[in-house]
Amino acid sequence: MKTLLLNPGPVTLTDRVRQSLLQPDLCHRESEFYDLQDEARARLLDVYRLDPKAWSAVLMTASGTGAVESMIASLVPQEGKLLIVQNGVYGERIASIAKQYGIAHEIVAHDWMQAPDLARIEACLDANGPFSHVAIVHHETTTGRLNDLRAIGASCRSRGVQLLVDAVSSFGAEAIDFEDANIAAVAATANKCLHGVPGAAFVVARRTAIEGAASRTYYLDLARLAKLQAQRNTPFTPSVHAYYALVEALREFEEQGGLEARHERYARLAEQVRSGLASRGIASVLPPEQSSVVLRAYALPAGVGYEVLHDGLKAKGFVIYAGQGDLSKQLFRISTMGEIEAADMERLLQAFDVLTR
Ligand SMILES: Cc1ncc(COP(=O)(O)O)c(C=O)c1O
Repeated sequence: MKTLLLNPGPVTLTDRVRQSLLQPDLCHRESEFYDLQDEARARLLDVYRLDPKAWSAVLMTASGTGAVESMIASLVPQEGKLLIVQNGVYGERIASIAKQYGIAHEIVAHDWMQAPDLARIEACLDANGPFSHVAIVHHETTTGRLNDLRAIGASCRSRGVQLLVDAVSSFGAEAIDFEDANIAAVAATANKCLHGVPGAAFVVARRTAIEGAASRTYYLDLARLAKLQAQRNTPFTPSVHAYYALVEALREFEEQGGLEARHERYARLAEQVRSGLASRGIASVLPPEQSSVVLRAYALPAGVGYEVLHDGLKAKGFVIYAGQGDLSKQLFRISTMGEIEAADMERLLQAFDVLTR
């Protein structure tokens, strides 16, 4: 029995992406590697139809956190100040990164179940500035909430502040308005909505933002990575195999209809699971219109602990995901990224019938 991953990445791979890992061994100082790197960078911009004259996709061998760290540590200028919008684990992680690098910052903290409060964010921007940047998580995977980039971007734009976005669990599946949201950069990873393998991460940044980058970090220095990649070079040994998989996943992504098709596919699967669980008395903790299509959080059924649910579903071939922190006792999460079909989700719902009866 094949186990399907319903955790928020790594995802269940297609055979095509898995097979791509078996391509010839490749030295990262050979032209074949630079062709691969160039294709990955060009295709990442194509996901959101970004103009390569204005935007650059910078690759790195890291997980999603590495890309977020590179973006925050490199793009807030030495004299800059960052406002961090926090409504979950990953917003808190951005604050930890800012603290670690000694970046001047303020935090607008929310309860993990709450949407960002624009009035509080604007009040902080106006009272504690000047700020150079606001950082926010697009899809806060802690709860499945999709934060509204456009509204916060508009507040930023009118104040001359730029937005830095953790789009680790939304890039490739949720719309991102790079222009209207006043975005300077977005950080993401290969192994979530793009269906690659862990090990390749990236920052898509405005070229002007990279030109003004601060070098607080050595390995994750975005400006150096960008400069060398533009010259068909690389400072370090990249995860060649993860790049093979990323390129194959991006080819497949395009052939399957790109961003809009992936969004539709995820939306159908997420709704199938949501309505199926609702009919079994298991409610999603956020209304669908506030949630991403990538992942939904559900209240644990009365009298059923997470471990029992997890182990029972795993025995039937499905890996689900626990809540984080205090939420672990209240909810579980199901993501529908990766090579998953409607028939698989029907089997999942039937498995729930047996376990929660
Ligand atoms: C929104 C968000 N940011 C950052 C991360 C961290 O990614 P990684 O575990 O690949 O470092 C995750 C992981 O799930 C995430 O969902």
